[in-house]
Amino acid sequence: MFDLIVKNANLTDGRIGVDIACNSGKIVAVEANISGEARDTIDAEGYLVSPPFVDPHFHMDATLSLGTPRTNVSGTLLEGIGLWGELKPIQSVDDIIERALNYCDLAAAKGIGAIRSHVDTCDDELKGVQALLEVREKVKDILDLQLVAFPQDGLLRDPTAMENTIRALEMGVDVVGGIPHFERTMSDGAKSVRLLCEIAEQRGLMVDMHCDESDDPHSRHIETLAYEAQRLGLQGRVAGSHLTSMHSMDNYYVSKLIPLIAEAGVHAIPNPLINIMLQGRHDTYPKRRGQTRVRELRDAGITVGFGSDCMMDPWYSLGKADMLDVAFMGLHVGQLSSRADMDWCFDAVTVNSAKIMGLSGYGVAKGCDANFIILQADDKIEAIRLRAHRLAVVRHGTIISKAHPITHTISRRGSSRLVNEARLENPSG
Ligand code: FE2
Repeated sequence: MFDLIVKNANLTDGRIGVDIACNSGKIVAVEANISGEARDTIDAEGYLVSPPFVDPHFHMDATLSLGTPRTNVSGTLLEGIGLWGELKPIQSVDDIIERALNYCDLAAAKGIGAIRSHVDTCDDELKGVQALLEVREKVKDILDLQLVAFPQDGLLRDPTAMENTIRALEMGVDVVGGIPHFERTMSDGAKSVRLLCEIAEQRGLMVDMHCDESDDPHSRHIETLAYEAQRLGLQGRVAGSHLTSMHSMDNYYVSKLIPLIAEAGVHAIPNPLINIMLQGRHDTYPKRRGQTRVRELRDAGITVGFGSDCMMDPWYSLGKADMLDVAFMGLHVGQLSSRADMDWCFDAVTVNSAKIMGLSGYGVAKGCDANFIILQADDKIEAIRLRAHRLAVVRHGTIISKAHPITHTISRRGSSRLVNEARLENPSG
């Protein structure tokens, strides 16, 4: 007797019409025509079964705060940081918990199974840290939440940031973060990268640093991050988030830089929705797009995962916890339009980001955790094209969210028929 069998699934590796059996929270078989009884059975009807979406970059302490105390008028990163500074003193731990739980419920329903969230440590009360540590426990049944200690106002620029960042790590925050481009000088930025990487090395932690999130072609913090990762033996445990200045850098310099990032085993996390909105704001025309060099990083062998970064907060008024929106935007801005490139964009919001976060047991294969989603699409490219509807979300072998397929009844010349945009070859189906 299995806990769950999913029948007739298409998989992300291209196999079609296979069954998936789960027991005790694990996938115990992935093969054609599994027989036997199950407590629950889902007919996937040939739709895509994928491991859950993974969001490697988010700010859960700020999410769903839009309009409090006001909205961002200029649309710049710097006004967003200023606005967040106005919100911090007037929000309570309970406010943050309530907003974060609302977000996690939505995210899980949208098929996100793991989130890496930065949490601001430039607050002597560490309200965000207290709140998100509690939320991390509360949402365990629906998703994995990994927290990054993030000195938003600058490790060296803010007088108590160092002390508070270390306190946050001692309270149980998982990863060391930073924001070198917000320090007062380029040399302070480099020093903050060195100090934070040393803290991570001493504590055996991963690093994920906001790095060069500007249009400044001379910003050099990813170079320092790669250097420190290599010097301290942190290969494979370090990520650079945003990296938008790379868009504006001199091509000759980038031809040296990208191999250094690859050599240091540093991962890259672009955030397409947010950076297409925030960057280039000081340009007239032509306007720079401000997304890092995704194709070139990927082609150099660097693991690239797309993050969502924000939803309804001081930096971004939109968002709906949809990693397919993120992949869709990253694909367009990066002009990743070949079949292979589009297919890869799906990996950038699933398996690549799982690798960056160090998730174990991830995948739809025998022995993996029984965590997966069913999308109303036949394959990965169709999933991105449609920003496909989530038909079911399974976590630890249990169905935690389900929905009916979306079809439309269209009436024309007195007759009506069903339209299913995922099955246009069979529109009456
Ligand atoms: Fe961010």
